[in-house]
Amino acid sequence: MFGRDEIDDATVAAPPAHVAIIMDGNGRWASKRLMPRFEGHRRGVEALRRTVRAAAELGIRYLTLYSFSSENWSRPRTEVDYLMGLVKRFVRNDLADLHANNVRVRIIGEREGLDAELAELLSEVENLTAANTGLTLVVAFNYGARQEIVAAARRLAQKVAEGTLKPQDITAEAVAANLHTHDIPDPDLVIRTSGEQRLSNFLLWQAAYAEFVFIPLLWPDFDRRALETALAEYHARDRRFGGLGETDPPRQANSG
Ligand code: IPE
Ligand code: IPE
Ligand code: MG
Repeated sequence: MFGRDEIDDATVAAPPAHVAIIMDGNGRWASKRLMPRFEGHRRGVEALRRTVRAAAELGIRYLTLYSFSSENWSRPRTEVDYLMGLVKRFVRNDLADLHANNVRVRIIGEREGLDAELAELLSEVENLTAANTGLTLVVAFNYGARQEIVAAARRLAQKVAEGTLKPQDITAEAVAANLHTHDIPDPDLVIRTSGEQRLSNFLLWQAAYAEFVFIPLLWPDFDRRALETALAEYHARDRRFGGLGETDPPRQANSG
């Protein structure tokens, strides 16, 4: 069963509650080996399995994985079809194992427009694992943060138009409550592999105060050690949230 490691060193800092990963570099991993891009995606699924297991063992509560963006539809049809098939295979092969390991799966992104069989599979994963109490695995699939925020704005505007919501009631909390992630805490740490340093339309709202760690490894090479390295970097950061932070000298009242 995936779970927090038995030997728990009390001196080790608590892991971030929510780690989100932009799994990038599958195509380059394959190209470097003169292989077709799909081979990189296939190997990327193995890295994903390792990462889910490692995250659970390290005591991370929420792991979000960016697996297909709203913009990834612009890739060649053959690659998109391969990726869709890979998701179906992953669900069929891994669902029982995830469930047995108490993993709760949530899928964020636009469900409309997906092929019916795939949409059905995604609902099945969520329903089967809904009551699990271990790691929450959030899969961002057909996900785009701008689209998510636009949809939230539209829902709020609709309520205002109907007279059930006042404009002054549109608060940050109200927006957050209308995002796909309404029941998921904001990510503490966002990791991107492959050396690219951009968000590519991922969790734009939710990552407002996340720490970012960019890793040169290509996604199929990602493993527990790489995750631990990212966590160590996270722990060395000083999260300030606009305040003065832990490493600042304490403020004295009326000191001038
Ligand atoms: C990430 O790898 C997987 C998806 C976006 C689906 P890429 O396919 O983006 O690989 P690169 O960035 O081309 O190497
Ligand atoms: C972001 O990677 C999307 C996923 C990892 C699923 P991309 O490879 O699509 O991002 P860009 O195009 O390099 O910004
Ligand atoms: Mg990429």
